[in-house]
Order: sequence, then structure tokens, then C-alpha cells
Amino acid sequence: MDSIYHARWITTDVELDDYSARMFQRKIEFDKKVRKAVFHVTALGIYEAYVNEKQVGKDYRFLPGWTHYSRRVQYQSYDVTKYIKDNQAILSVHVARGWFGGRISGNPGKMPFAMACALDVVFEDGTKDFYISMANDRWKAAKTKVIFSDIYDGETYDERLQLHDFQAVKTAHGYNPNDLVKQQGEYVKEQETLPALKLITTPRNERVIDFGQNMTGYVRFTVKGRIGQRFVISHAEVLDNEGCFYTDNLRGAKQRIEYISNGRVSAYSPHFSFQGFRYIRLDEWPDNVNLEDIKAIVVHSDIVRTGFFDSSSELLNKLFTNAIWGQKGNFLDVPTDCPQRDERLGWTGDAQVFAKAASYNYNVKKFFAKWLTDLALSQGTNGAVPVVVPIRYSYTGVSSAWGDAATIIPYQMYLTYGDKKILEDQYDSMASWVEYIKNSSDNPYLWNNGTHYGDWLALDVPFGTYKGKTDPYLISTVYYANSVDILRKTSIILKKRKNIILYYENLYKNIVKAFNETYWKDEKLLTDTQTAYVLALHFKLLNKDRVKTAVLNLLRKISDSNNKISTGFLGTPYILHVLADNGHADIAYKLLLEKEYPSWLYPITKGSTTIWEHWDNIKPDGTFWSKDMNSFNHYAYGAVADFMYEKVAGIRTDESKPGFANIIFEPVVTKNCELNHAKAVIKVKEGEISSSWKIEKDMIYYRFEVPKKHTATICLNKTYEVGPGEYEYTLNI
Ligand code: BGC
Repeated sequence: MDSIYHARWITTDVELDDYSARMFQRKIEFDKKVRKAVFHVTALGIYEAYVNEKQVGKDYRFLPGWTHYSRRVQYQSYDVTKYIKDNQAILSVHVARGWFGGRISGNPGKMPFAMACALDVVFEDGTKDFYISMANDRWKAAKTKVIFSDIYDGETYDERLQLHDFQAVKTAHGYNPNDLVKQQGEYVKEQETLPALKLITTPRNERVIDFGQNMTGYVRFTVKGRIGQRFVISHAEVLDNEGCFYTDNLRGAKQRIEYISNGRVSAYSPHFSFQGFRYIRLDEWPDNVNLEDIKAIVVHSDIVRTGFFDSSSELLNKLFTNAIWGQKGNFLDVPTDCPQRDERLGWTGDAQVFAKAASYNYNVKKFFAKWLTDLALSQGTNGAVPVVVPIRYSYTGVSSAWGDAATIIPYQMYLTYGDKKILEDQYDSMASWVEYIKNSSDNPYLWNNGTHYGDWLALDVPFGTYKGKTDPYLISTVYYANSVDILRKTSIILKKRKNIILYYENLYKNIVKAFNETYWKDEKLLTDTQTAYVLALHFKLLNKDRVKTAVLNLLRKISDSNNKISTGFLGTPYILHVLADNGHADIAYKLLLEKEYPSWLYPITKGSTTIWEHWDNIKPDGTFWSKDMNSFNHYAYGAVADFMYEKVAGIRTDESKPGFANIIFEPVVTKNCELNHAKAVIKVKEGEISSSWKIEKDMIYYRFEVPKKHTATICLNKTYEVGPGEYEYTLNI
């Protein structure tokens, strides 16, 4: 057991409105030579740690990560042997409020941050010792150059300052070393550097730099100022229709960096804050701006890219790239709704709808394993899943389709990566979510109470209304059925007892029956919306003899909306799949490649470089739909990328042989699909799964690649069962 379990959480007195950082520090003198030293560190807040002024874990950002802090906090361990000099070690841990005590916590104040650490030492003579953080006078806390720091608001850094205002430390009550866990998730790291593309002077006379890409991270600049000279920048995602810097959609998040020079040349980037931006405004900066000295640093969890897509449509390719950027921008230790405004929270519904695409784009196995652990710890004793994970003070509601992240994401990780462990680890959490639903409703087969987000942001309601028209209880019953079905399948996979499997089987059948009895009247669903039909069809809830009619109803609803989509967060991920699965691939392609509002490609015609939260973040007339909910980097609608892999290129896993052990190749190509070629690649351990097709004259040329140790079922005019290798087919279109 690492000695950090003996450490005490320490903090210091901080005023409510004091958002400056602290350096916790102590000096250790050894009376023997050190052979090996390991430094274990954590914080409630965000830390950077140093031994003898050398930063440890320098490549990692935003440590120790964001977990359900009241239940567990990750710690990190560093071999610091090479930093121990002259038989002495100065341990320094620089801590700011971060996710724990900053504004993002929803409850900043009572204790803004704390720190725990331990140094394990083995001496040359083989003896061992350890040194821990505790509230004694060996430890001190001092103010630092970081005189203001908040995730939402940014950072103020005074390069002139040294450590100052030393204070005594005290025990941080309420936190227990037993709650410490080793780093479970992916480390967050700097991933890319984007150059400053151009300097613009806006009609309002603002000096603005464009980095060309909406992203998450921070700016790093190298400057030489006069002593006390200020360099101040603000961050924004877009310019308004007059070309001026636009920050209203950030709501309460200031995203502002202030740097005060000590007169020497120095490179600076914020230590404890990140921003969502494409543009920066130079609020205070010398007249002479050298673009070379200003870079944007893209920061996200260290997930490995696995998925690629390309086609003959440049706009479609851009949509795919925008979905990738949506993932880069929102996979920063936890999956967030957006990275810029005063939210940046682990909204469960958003993560749930995007999880499949996310798992093809990048290897997110470890990333989600960590977040799902926190999801399970955040559940109430009744199984309720909060709408955001890690839970945020006051965001304690429960909503269907949001809470279902508890079942949908583990099952998707199992499908994509073929590893049962995630199901074993999450089983209790999954089961208790289903019990929660069952117990919270007076009818055990319909979830017909509570408040839900519904088909969030759908377009079938009056302008400005957030919840779509589809009856929230129709939706909650659909998701209830789906979660029970996942439990049924998971129980079989994990070889649970027969009576458990039977329990879910019966529960599922009864929900499906109740759904059909309650929500189908006069050849329609009770709410006659695109999303209602999409969900009922996608989750296969309708009696067989109703499917045809439901599909026709969906087509009618699409044609009623001018052959456009009107779905929100819940209908959007599945509408194209449902159309393609039910013989209407032409309409699916028509919706996918539509350029007019509302459509996936419309934002691209307006210059988007990420996925928008709304279909109409920027309206056709160039104005913004609203300033309240107008994120330009919300990955939810980027879920459409999974259609590009699974249907356009035609790569999916066989559910009975998950992890692509058996790959199903089934590209959906039609004469009128408007594409001449498409290709997707998904990298797996043994190599690349690849599927491509091109149309020349009246012929389609298909090419498939099956990596070693995998098999494939190729579904074209006939079905071919094949092993590893490359396969080509030519068919008449
Ligand atoms: C977030 C969403 C989230 C929603 C809940 C919003 O403020 O940005 O993406 O899912 O609230 O409906």
C-alpha cells in the first residue's frame, strides 16, 4: 500500500472571494543517501507538483482529474529519485480550486481546495521511510504568482511575484485517505499546437486573432513586457454577423487570461484553467503583435485515435472532422456537454448519445471505465443516476435517456471493445438504475412520472422551447425497455442465474406490451413526431404488424417538415439508421447530405469547425438563435458519425462476437445516394478494419480488409463468411 494512505488532507484559510492558488511546501533533510524516492500526490482541486523545484508529471495537465470527490479522489505517483540532491527534498504542491472548489462546483466556498501527498524513500543502506502531508508546522502554504484561477473565468498570473503571504496549514476535515485511488483514467495532456492564422481588426476596433479551429485548451504566448505590463486576452468561439468578437453565449464564464510581466522574456500558458475558443481578443497588448509568439494548445485526455472516414463529399468529410473536434474538445478527463460556457459538465445524456461514435473515433475504453465508476458512485441508494457525473451540487435531478448512460455506455463499450469486464464492473450500477425506474413509477411497466429533458432541443415545438414535442413519458418508457433489454443481454453474457435472466425477460416483455397498449392509437403513436417513430422503431418496441405503418408515419412526418429533420438529442442519433434499416436509404442520404437548415451540413455552410448545440446556432439570416444555450462545441449531434462508419462505409460488430471479432460489412449504397465513394477505417489491436466502395459508371467496386484473428460476414448481394485478408467485389448498381 502506498504511503499516501497515511497522509492527511491539509488546507489553509482562504477567504470566500479569494480565488488565488496556494503552494503547499515542506523541506525534508535526510541523514542518509537516498537510493529511490517516489512522490505520491493528490488534491481536491487541481495541482502541479515539484520536488526541489523540478516539476513532476510535467506532461500531465489538470491533475488529479475530476472524480466524484466525496467518494474517491485519484492520486498519481512519480519516481523522483533523480531530483533528490544533497540529501534534501523540498516538496511543493501548487493547488488551485479547479473542479473541486471553483465556480464549476456549483458550491464554491466552504473549503476551496486541499492537498495530500507522501514521499516514499528507500535509502542506500536498504532502510525505508516515508514523509506525509499533515497539519504541523513543517508544512506551510504560500500565495503564488497565480493570483486568480477558475476553470470558467480563467487565470491572472503575476510574473513579478515570488511565494508570499506564508500561512499555517490545517487539517481538511471530511475527507479520508481511504477514499484515495490510483489514477484510473487517461491522463490529460497537451495534444496539438495550432498557429495563430491571422490578426483581424473588427468593426468595433478590437484586435482579434483567429486560430482557424474551434477547440479546447489554452493559449501559450511568449512575451517581453515592461515590469508590470499587462497582457490580457479574452476567448470566444465565433464572431457575430458583423465580424465582432462574440462572448454572450459564454454566459457567466469569463474565459479571460491576464498576465503581468516581470520585464523579462517568458512563455506563459494558464496552469489551472482551460478555454473553449477559436478566437482571442487582445484586450491589453502592445501595439506590435507577433503572431509567431502566440499559439493555441489543444488539450484533452490522452485517447488514441482509431477511426477515420472519407468520402466524395467534402461537406460530409468536414462534418466527420467536426465530430472528431467535438470529441477532442469535450473529452477532457470527463465527457462534457461543452467546453466554453458556464457548464462544462459531465451531462450523462450527451455522453450516452455520442458514446458509440466516440468509441469508433478513439479508444475510449479506459476513459469511460473511469467515468462510469464515478457514475456508479454518484447513484443514490435507490439507484437514481444524476443528470451530471461527477455530480454537481444542486444538479441532482433524474431524467430518462440521461440516466440510461448507466446501461447504454457499458454495453456499447462491451460491443466496441469486446471486453466483458466493463459489464462485470458496472452490473450493479446498471441493475440498480433499472430498479430505480421500476420503483419510481406506480405502473412497473411504464415510466410515467417525474421530470425529463425529453427530446431536448427538437424543432417540433415553438421557437425558443427547449423540450421537443414528443411525450416525455413515451420516451422514458422506450428507454426503460431498452435498459431492461440491456440488463437481460448482460445477464446472459455474465452467466447470471436463470431466475435473474427470466426476471429481465419478463419485465421487458411487459414493458413492450404496456408500451403498445398505451402509446399506439388509431394507427399512430400518441405523439405523432419524427422522434417518437424513430425511437419506437430503433428500439424495436412496436408489435410486428405496426412496423410498416410506423415507418410510413415517419416518412409522412419527414415530408411534413419539408423533407428535413426536426429531431432533438434523442431522435437525431437514430433517424438515419431507422430509415436505412427499413428500406429508405435514399431518404437517409437525402437528410444526411441536406445543406439547407435544418440539417447536419447546414452549420458547415456557415463555417462551423465543430458540432453545434442547436441546428440553428447561427440562423440563415446570420443572427444567433439565442445567447442562452448556444454552444458551438457540443458533440451530441456528432453522433451521426456512427452512421458514417456503420451504414455509409458499412462496418459494424457482430453483437454475438463483439469487439469486431466478427465484423459485419454491409455498406448502404444506393443509386441516388449522391456519393461516388466512401471509406472508413477502424483500427483494432491486430491491424485495420477497412471498408470502401466507389461507383464508376454502373458498377460498384467494394474493398474490405479483415485484420488477423478477426473474421467477417460480408453482406452484399449474397453473404460471404471470410477470415483475415483483403476482399474485392464488383457489382452492378
Ligand atoms: C446542456 C446539455 C444537457 C442539458 C440537459 C444543457 O444545459 O448543455 O447538453 O444535456 O442541459 O437537458
